[in-house]
Formats: sequence, C-alpha cells, structure tokens
Amino acid sequence: MELQKLAEEKLAFLIIFIFLLISVGLLIEVVPLFGSKSVTEPAPGLKPYNALELAGRDIYIREGCYNCHSQMIRPFRAETERYGHYSVGGESVYDHPFQWGSKRTGPDLARVGGRYSDTWHEQHMDDPRSVVPESVMPAFPWLKRNPVNIDATVRHMKTLKIVGVPYTEADFAAAQELMSNKTELDAMIAYLQSLGHALADETNQAN
Ligand code: HEC
Repeated sequence: MELQKLAEEKLAFLIIFIFLLISVGLLIEVVPLFGSKSVTEPAPGLKPYNALELAGRDIYIREGCYNCHSQMIRPFRAETERYGHYSVGGESVYDHPFQWGSKRTGPDLARVGGRYSDTWHEQHMDDPRSVVPESVMPAFPWLKRNPVNIDATVRHMKTLKIVGVPYTEADFAAAQELMSNKTELDAMIAYLQSLGHALADETNQAN
C-alpha cells in the first residue's frame, strides 16, 4: 500500500491521483459517445430551425431564459408524465450551444411546442401574471416592439452550416420573406412552438 501512503502523506500525490482518476473516468464515460450514432445523428423528425425560429432562439439566449428553464426531460416517470417522452441526444444535434440546463425555476420547455396557442404565448410573454396569476416569471414587453434582425440571423445560419447544420441556399433566401415585418415576439413564439416535435413525428410515422 505504498501508493496509498503517498496519497495520504503528500498532498501533491493526492492531487495527481485524483486528476488521473477523473481523467480515466471521463475517457470511459465520454469518449465512446463521440462515435455513438444515438448522439451524433439527428432524430428522425428533426429539422434545422427556420430563420424565424433561429432568431427566436438567439433572443431566448440573449434574455437568459435558460436561467429559469431547462430543455431536457429526464428519463423518470414523474418527468415523462408531466412533459412527455424523455429527451434524447439526437434531438439536439443542430443546437449550438444546446439549452439542456438543469435550473428549473419554471417548467422544462423541451416539449412546449404546440402546448399553448400563439395568443397565449403573446399574452404570457407580455404579462405572465395575466394568464398565470401565481407566476414569478418576469415580463418581456419589449419583445413585441423590437423588429427581428434579418442580417444577423442569416449570418448565424451560415455559421451553423459550417459546423454541420444542413442549411441550403433556399433556407437563406427564405429568411427575407419569413422574417419581414416580424417582431422579436413573433420569433420567440415561433421558436417555442418548434420545440420538441422530432420524436412525436417519429411516433406518427411509425403508426
Ligand atoms: C425568473 C425565472 C424565469 C425567467 C427568467 C423566465 N421564466 Fe418562463 N417561467 C417561469 C415560471 C416560474 C413559469 C411558470 C409560471 C408561468 O407559466 O408563468 C414559467 C413559464 C414559462 C412558460 C410556460 C411553460 C409551461 O409549460 O407552462 C414558457 C413558454 C416560458 N416560461 C418561456 C420563457 C421564456 C421564452 C423566457 C425568456 C424570454 C422565460 N420564460 C424566462 C420563470 C421564468
């Protein structure tokens, strides 16, 4: 037990051993995932965000919505009964960076798409307590006043293409029409409504 003695008596060795232990753990746990199809291939129904949805996602990040909302349903019954099918890696392959998170002051949003009408979201973003009286969510009234930034969004799409999101010239061209006269609120709602359909579509196809 010479090694144990070293670790107990010399702090530097303890630190080196802990470092080695964590490195080996990471190698075993994380490295195999790089080659695993379940986390590198898109889920069957997954589509890249269109221009308006992507703009909404950028605003979601800008406004810090992730500080209160996760986008990852864990594989536990209490979660799946509330939110739907647990999240799988293939649903996030076009997300750079992903928005999984773990802080839940508000509910998980991974499958919020289609749960409420656009009108509900409009009112909720503008004044959360007008639809959910006990809500502690802040209001985001400026979203409906700000126009979306088309140029920045198209540039973002082109960058995402470089890292593997399969955008085409047609997607870039469609951005102008999709986003003209749209506000940041429209973009945010388009983004929220787009969330979480990839697996549902897969189930529909299977039926
Ligand atoms: C300070 C924490 C906080 C922040 C920041 C926050 N939210 Fe919320 N959110 C909540 C809480 C709490 C609820 C539950 C009460 C309610 O519905 O208002 C909620 C509910 C929601 C819901 C309804 C979810 C459901 O399934 O009922 C949506 C959609 C939502 N938030 C979107 C957003 C977006 C988009 C942003 C950023 C622009 C944001 N939230 C920022 C706390 C927050």
